[in-house]
Amino acid sequence: MTLNVEFGSDNHSGVHPNIMKAIVDANNGYSISYGEDEITKNSIKKIKELFGSDVDVFFVYNGIAANILGLKTVTNSFNSIICADTAHLNVHECCGPEKFTGCKLVIIPTKDGKLKPELIKPYLIGTGDIHMAQPKVVSITQSTELGTTYNLDELNKLCSFAHKNNLLVHVDGARLCNAAIFLKKDLKEITRDVGVDILSFGGTKNGMMYGEAVVFFDKKIAKDFEFYRKQGMQLTSKMRFISAQFNAFFEYNLWAKNAEYANKMAQYLKNELCKITEVKIVQKVEANMVYAYIPRKYLQKLREKYFFHVFDENACEARLMCSFNTKKESIDDLVNSLRNIIKK
Ligand SMILES: Cc1ncc(COP(=O)(O)O)c(C=O)c1O
Repeated sequence: MTLNVEFGSDNHSGVHPNIMKAIVDANNGYSISYGEDEITKNSIKKIKELFGSDVDVFFVYNGIAANILGLKTVTNSFNSIICADTAHLNVHECCGPEKFTGCKLVIIPTKDGKLKPELIKPYLIGTGDIHMAQPKVVSITQSTELGTTYNLDELNKLCSFAHKNNLLVHVDGARLCNAAIFLKKDLKEITRDVGVDILSFGGTKNGMMYGEAVVFFDKKIAKDFEFYRKQGMQLTSKMRFISAQFNAFFEYNLWAKNAEYANKMAQYLKNELCKITEVKIVQKVEANMVYAYIPRKYLQKLREKYFFHVFDENACEARLMCSFNTKKESIDDLVNSLRNIIKK
């Protein structure tokens, strides 16, 4: 039987038709390279309309580059970057942040993927001590890798704590759109307005083929980014194919529609799973993913039909992800399959 991979990741879904059309439309004749083209200029203008005319915006191919190049630009090799233990930066970037920034990652355990001032405080004792790595940035993920979302109050407190301690705040926003929809806020309200300094603004997980934007809310700290992007092999010559996707993303609020649908499907999945007494939802569902405890014997059987990640095999917690094109019938099929496995 071929495995159904629909719930494995939002990376498993394809490209939204409007995005695909934008790519095809951009493939029209000649255009200046390396971001000097009109499509890219237009796309940067649109992002500036969202976040403010005084921000700096740069496109890269993928999320890992957005994170690492954003962080590289604002750090020295004697600095440290603080993040949650579950951060993509820590778990799934293959020491890329350490290699390219030279910084130490200071990882903090959390219950729900969210950093808080009181969790960070004990890790700042070495500030000013020449024998120790100097904390420079707090990197948070919004929505988090555990499907939770920082609310405005948490963001405000975290950013003001960071700034009081001379730390910058970076947001890995691979799923920022899902967070904005969950919080019913616009993208600026949950980033710039709460004090975020650097944003990795993701598109791939929300219907794009590839492409992310790095947004610096203070131009002064962005000045070396373009050089690091070139050295980091992320300056794409045919940039118009990334920027065209962002243009389509903003047209008729496609970013919001896609994220809203993905979040809605995750709520539906959670509600259906809640009806099965053997299953426990282990994290709040505040974006497009559901973490569910499924007893080992049922989990193993379910994995014979469905591919999904179980990050902690001991805890038997499955991560089930929805996207802009998750089918409701597929959710019903997954839940019914699990019911039948339990019944047997
Ligand atoms: C939270 C988060 N950040 C960053 C990334 C990196 O994205 P990419 O695989 O495009 O480099 C991912 C990818 O899964 C992610 O989930």
